[in-house]
Amino acid sequence: MYIFCCCFGAVLLASSSSALTRSVSLGQSVTLLCEGAANGPIEWRFKQQQQDQWQSVVALHDGGVSPGPGFEERVKFVRTENPWIYNITLGPVVFTDGGVYQCKALHTDRIFSDVRLEVLDPFQVFVQLGQSVSLPCHGNIHKQIRSDELHFQWQKDGQDVYKHQNSKTTSGPGFENRVSVSLDRAPHGDLSLTIKEARLSDQGDYRCVYNIEKENGQPPLVHLNVTGLGVSSAQNVVLNGVLGQSVAFPDAVKKSGTLTYQGDSPQTIGDVTRGQFTDYTEGRVQWNSTTGLFSISGLKVEDSGMYTLLNNDAEPSKENQYQLNVDVSVSPPRVNVTRDTYRCTILCTVERGAAVTLTWYREGEAQSYASSPSRNTPDAYLPLTVDEGGTYTCEAKNSVNRETAKLTVGPHCTGEPNAPHSHLSHTFYTSAHLLSPPATSVNGETGLG
Ligand SMILES: *[C@@H]1O[C@H](CO)[C@@H](O)[C@H](O)[C@H]1NC(C)=O
Ligand SMILES: *[C@@H]1O[C@H](CO)[C@@H](O)[C@H](O)[C@H]1NC(C)=O
Ligand SMILES: *[C@@H]1O[C@H](CO)[C@@H](O)[C@H](O)[C@H]1NC(C)=O
Ligand SMILES: *[C@@H]1O[C@H](CO)[C@@H](O)[C@H](O)[C@H]1NC(C)=O
Repeated sequence: MYIFCCCFGAVLLASSSSALTRSVSLGQSVTLLCEGAANGPIEWRFKQQQQDQWQSVVALHDGGVSPGPGFEERVKFVRTENPWIYNITLGPVVFTDGGVYQCKALHTDRIFSDVRLEVLDPFQVFVQLGQSVSLPCHGNIHKQIRSDELHFQWQKDGQDVYKHQNSKTTSGPGFENRVSVSLDRAPHGDLSLTIKEARLSDQGDYRCVYNIEKENGQPPLVHLNVTGLGVSSAQNVVLNGVLGQSVAFPDAVKKSGTLTYQGDSPQTIGDVTRGQFTDYTEGRVQWNSTTGLFSISGLKVEDSGMYTLLNNDAEPSKENQYQLNVDVSVSPPRVNVTRDTYRCTILCTVERGAAVTLTWYREGEAQSYASSPSRNTPDAYLPLTVDEGGTYTCEAKNSVNRETAKLTVGPHCTGEPNAPHSHLSHTFYTSAHLLSPPATSVNGETGLG
């Protein structure tokens, strides 16, 4: 199921034979390169399609940047360490930006770079995740072409998706067995590309070129927008992974499904098609055919983020979102006294770290006083009630690292000799301490209380 949108592809080409051509989609940014003379002043100028007048895009002089009319707020000077480089970034690009751009010395006619910019209005195609879609393209192929002369190619964001050359067809990474062009219709000029089982990572700009000269097909650019399955059917699950270990996505895929990492541009990292698994990460992603679970091994902090698991086992497809948090090292714990009278309560907290275990030790004693089960921040804290003076150490530990902090408890925690009940309590606790293993606690009171 797919829907074509209204906007028809349009190309704006400026006529300049010597210039390099750069293409950019409406609304995107483009960097124009210029290597000039040191300490220029330099000017980037522009001649719009079918106009004779040069206009100023931006002047670059003595650290100053002066954009020309119509380019204010849209042109940036890409500063590098090299004083000869005068690259600029233009964006968001509007349709009337199509034309020739020249980078020249401001006061002479020396031209350092000459770029022809074509602004493309991509033809929009929408597809639902998991469905098939056709991306339109037509080319003026010679009617009498021999099949071994037929050359055409589809690219997405500069990478090959599908290529037909010398009677051989190849598909790009991630598109194996999912893309096709009808070789019966191609000699009639129809080079439309069919993509099966659309993935989120299929989203992007596609172009089709044909003949050895790589002529642009019509429309010259197709934007494929892959729409998810409504938010209501998607679940959001938090997964906590530990650095260096593996994490499994708890949704079993038996026959068909994909795991996608939602970075700046979604990237399919694992795929199962008819029970066959493909890993796109050089060994980081696994699929267990018995359990049907995808997993990522050797977790890195950078793996943290959103993942989408598309399960195509049943109709309709099911999509789950996972927020993966990879265990982060423990920050040094903070210790303080929260109840500062006889029988003080000391508290140890950590601000950062997952699966953290906190333990209190008293100086000179090997046994711990209290230990918490492993917890994630911000809930990783451990209070301990003490009636013995001395230095206490809190240790915070997880699979990544270990940090400690110390605290000295004064005589007031031990009890004043004249304070009511203090002697009794002190004796009681001391003797109890001698009789039983050190008290353990996770919630503030010692095991004796
Ligand atoms: C700037 O332009 C030079 C060539 O003129 C190019 O080699 C370089 O990659 C560009 N740098 C950036 C940051 O765009
Ligand atoms: C895809 O289409 C949706 C719905 O029209 C739109 O909100 C979204 O911005 C589009 N995404 C891209 C990258 O074009
Ligand atoms: C798949 O999962 C099962 C059950 O947990 C386990 O016994 C088996 O070793 C796993 N297979 C692989 C290849 O990891
Ligand atoms: C002790 O630390 C905890 C957690 O950082 C904080 O909430 C509390 O206010 C501190 N107490 C004192 C007395 O500083």
